[in-house]
Amino acid sequence: MHTTINNLSLAYTDAGSGPAVMLIHGFPLGRAMWEPQVEALTAAGFRVIAPDLRGFGDSEGPAEGYSMDRFADDVAELMTKLGIGRAVVGGMSMGGYVLFNLLARYPQKIAGAAFLLTRCNADDAAGKARRKALAEEVRQGRRRVVEESFADILFAPGTLKTRPELVERVKGWMSATSDAGLAGALLAMGERPDYCGRLGEFLTPALVMGADEDRIVPPETIGPFAAALPLSSSCIIPGAGHMANLEAPQAFNACLLKFVRLCSQTLDVRGNGNRVLEF
Ligand code: MLT
Repeated sequence: MHTTINNLSLAYTDAGSGPAVMLIHGFPLGRAMWEPQVEALTAAGFRVIAPDLRGFGDSEGPAEGYSMDRFADDVAELMTKLGIGRAVVGGMSMGGYVLFNLLARYPQKIAGAAFLLTRCNADDAAGKARRKALAEEVRQGRRRVVEESFADILFAPGTLKTRPELVERVKGWMSATSDAGLAGALLAMGERPDYCGRLGEFLTPALVMGADEDRIVPPETIGPFAAALPLSSSCIIPGAGHMANLEAPQAFNACLLKFVRLCSQTLDVRGNGNRVLEF
């Protein structure tokens, strides 16, 4: 499906019915990554919305205008357009950076925050310089440098060896990302603020999920991240890397569903948050 959001044509999946769950993809991917979660969540009685962020997948990729604020504004506006007051929102990696922005700027829209294979810290100086160098490679017509630098570290070593078809599918999604989206999102990620020092402010129920073979978000960062959030739980998916939702979908879905079920008790089917959790 497509709709016009903030003057751009955005593609999104809207499947199932029930309390709303919004899933935000990572970099340089797209909403196609959520297929196993869309299936599990809709079967469990939820409505799942998953956009392609501007510049990614089937969404329009403007030449300029990429920032975490813009990504979050697009997601917030999409919710409004679809008549969803509040949702449980899950953000994978870069999607988690967007989720932090939403929590800081649109907290009333979020019934639960699922931080999936992501982190709370900003890039350090070397990280920012690397993002800029990669964005420059894209601008010089060498986008393969970005695709190659992300391709292998997305997966656990075992997945790379035994599931070449999955690796190729994910690479296909990377190539669907526009040049402007690649460069724009790299720079936007480099500019994101640090939230680790602010975690105590976020009173929304939260889940922090990691994977024990994630080479982008080390699993040992998950416990401290969760512990600093006032209302949180965490889980580590065994035998999976950064693409744990595809590498180990059953364990990933079980952890996510438990959290979504708990948070969604505060939502009616239109996500209007008119129920109170009873303990
Ligand atoms: C992602 O998976 O979204 C990226 O690895 C995030 C990042 O590069 O910081």
